[in-house]
Amino acid sequence: MDHRMSHNSGNQAPFAIAILGAGGISNAHSAAVKDSGDTLRISCVIDTNKENARKLADEHGAAAFDSAQQFFDAVDAGEATVDGIVICTPPTVRIEPIRAALERGIPVLTEKPVAMNAEDASRVAEIAAAHPDTLFGVAYCHRFAPPIIAMKQLVAEGKIGRLTRFENTFAFYHPPMAERWMSDPAVSGGGSFIDTGCHSLDLFRYLVGPAEVVGSVFDNDWSGRGESSATVLVKASDGPHAGVAGVILAGWLEPERFTVGLVGTNGSLHYDYMKPTELIYRPGIGEPELIKVESHEVRFSRQLIHFARAARGDAPRGDLADARDGLGAAEAVDRAARAAKII
Ligand SMILES: NC(=O)c1ccc[n+]([C@@H]2O[C@H](COP(=O)([O-])OP(=O)(O)OC[C@H]3O[C@@H](n4cnc5c(N)ncnc54)[C@H](O)[C@@H]3O)[C@@H](O)[C@H]2O)c1
Repeated sequence: MDHRMSHNSGNQAPFAIAILGAGGISNAHSAAVKDSGDTLRISCVIDTNKENARKLADEHGAAAFDSAQQFFDAVDAGEATVDGIVICTPPTVRIEPIRAALERGIPVLTEKPVAMNAEDASRVAEIAAAHPDTLFGVAYCHRFAPPIIAMKQLVAEGKIGRLTRFENTFAFYHPPMAERWMSDPAVSGGGSFIDTGCHSLDLFRYLVGPAEVVGSVFDNDWSGRGESSATVLVKASDGPHAGVAGVILAGWLEPERFTVGLVGTNGSLHYDYMKPTELIYRPGIGEPELIKVESHEVRFSRQLIHFARAARGDAPRGDLADARDGLGAAEAVDRAARAAKII
């Protein structure tokens, strides 16, 4: 059954979203749906953990399913309403639900990373390429953070001169990560670098260009688990900023820092996620300037609304990361892991 025509073209019925994986990050998508007024709704929730599925489904008056198979069977039987699916499972659970959705013409937004390694990401890219008429996006949500969009725009306007460096730290202190699937390479594909470093690599791709890994050092505090922190040097391999360097820091055993900086020959732009409405411009010489921006906190809402509009054909896909972007980040994660000096 082809679901492309159920996308309410011509009327404004809420865009019906199925959530696959009702764990931690599904709460961000759930909040985005609640914020959207009647633009979006959650119609189906699928989770092998019945309690998780039932809880989120009840919050939204949605149908709950115990497995992706059960959900797709209901879709085929015309018993489930869905205009798009958001995949929020761990990275091992990607390829089959993506294939099943796209084969049915159901637009997909999958959480990052697109897959647990470059090989799987490349299979996802092949599946997406085989269904060019159905939207496939990767939820690299920082592309929808207003301060990041402002930084891109200011660089394009020449505010900091010629871009020379990207600096990005996504790090926090959370020792229990040693026990969670995120640090189990068999489920996540690695440790802190694939977990948050993939966001950084996508930010680099969005703001600077495709990332070529120059070198990496991983620190591994937990035997048998993925890296607890990572330091990775990249440079842009192509595009108008080819050759520009990026320093990416990721960590789970560090004081909390969420910052993005762009340095140029005439100044720098610096954004600290803990000062959400402040973008700082520093000229080469002179006083810093505070540029007021909208908080990064709207990024999940903006991303989901954009996904729904693009899926309906009401907006171009725009900044939404696609399968090639997802593959680009996955390849760089793999290269960084292979090149890493482990300490
Ligand atoms: N965009 C972001 O900023 C961001 C933040 C956190 C997590 N994430 C990503 O979201 C994904 C999920 O992370 P999380 O923190 O929500 O994890 P989680 O462990 O809290 O939730 C995962 C859920 O998936 C369910 N699940 C597992 N296998 C399943 C299967 N085969 N079928 C159906 N359900 C299944 C689990 O029962 C669980 O409820 C990860 O890829 C993670 O990297 C993204």
